[in-house]
Amino acid sequence: MRLPIRLRGVLLAMALLLAATAVVPVLLLGAAEGGGGGVVAPAPPFNSSRVKAVSWSPRIFVYKGFLSDAECDHLVRLGKDKVRRSMVADNQSGKSVMSEVRTSSGTFLDKRQDPVVSRIEERIAAWTFLPEENAENIQILRYEHGQKYEPHFDYFHDKVNQARGGHRYATVLMYLSTVDKGGETVFPTAKGWESQPKDDTFSECAQKGLAVKPVKGDAVLFFSLHVDGVPDPLSLHGSCPVIEGEKWSAPKWIHVRSYENSPDMEVETEGCTDKSQYCAQWAAAGECGKNPVYMVGTEGSPGQCRKSCKVCDS
Ligand SMILES: *[C@@H]1O[C@H](CO)[C@@H](O)[C@H](O)[C@H]1NC(C)=O
Ligand SMILES: *[C@@H]1O[C@H](CO)[C@@H](O)[C@H](O)[C@H]1NC(C)=O
Repeated sequence: MRLPIRLRGVLLAMALLLAATAVVPVLLLGAAEGGGGGVVAPAPPFNSSRVKAVSWSPRIFVYKGFLSDAECDHLVRLGKDKVRRSMVADNQSGKSVMSEVRTSSGTFLDKRQDPVVSRIEERIAAWTFLPEENAENIQILRYEHGQKYEPHFDYFHDKVNQARGGHRYATVLMYLSTVDKGGETVFPTAKGWESQPKDDTFSECAQKGLAVKPVKGDAVLFFSLHVDGVPDPLSLHGSCPVIEGEKWSAPKWIHVRSYENSPDMEVETEGCTDKSQYCAQWAAAGECGKNPVYMVGTEGSPGQCRKSCKVCDS
């Protein structure tokens, strides 16, 4: 009997230690002032009681006050001078193309660009239970009068865009401004959307699905895949045309695997590299000539030691 109790004590101590190390950096960052270009208001901590599930099919959650006003203004300021006409991924080739389906303007920030961006990225990871490295950089989007994004999926149909990190699994959509009319995020195929109570403050577009109004600081989390990794077609969603005001939003797309360190990506951007730590040794032993298929390979199927065999420029 004595051992399990002691074991329990050890586990408890470890859990406390983990909790302490997880909490301390957040508190420190929350207390850091000024570093992010004049944001002095304290960052709201992650608070799960501010989260409401608004649909289970697809899975959609709304977090009231996920960002402080100062954080919203800061993100808008970072994006303001850099936004360019948004693109969409071509269904087959995966290439970025301009489309009337999406008329907003946008730009990507750098990851951990400054202390404010860092703590927002940390809070997103805390909310979604998904590691920061699985996520793409925060995008800043501006929708002016009449601009919209027709209903679409965040998972990709082409293979090119899945090479890095696999499918997009979840999306956190942060609202950086309150839109007077229109600009709702609408899920036209969410189960039971018809029973959502809506008055005439919702736009006509928003009447045709489950709709979330853009309110400065709020955030929506939805999942584009089922828990078994299969795409969920009910995650179809769009941005209704802005009727009054201006909409600023910031989506964060999170993949099933690491987006920062993707082994698939290295294959994708085949540089002049060795794929084995023994390449230099093997090359010195004359393996490039003796075993060219493995060592050098062909254009379509590059070998293991192209760098050491000196068949490419690094
Ligand atoms: C979390 O949010 C709830 C609901 O808004 C609020 O009542 C509560 O005080 C918050 N807790 C903390 C620790 O901020
Ligand atoms: C891409 O393909 C999917 C499935 O075939 C289709 O539902 C969707 O409308 C297509 N999107 C565009 C922009 O063509």
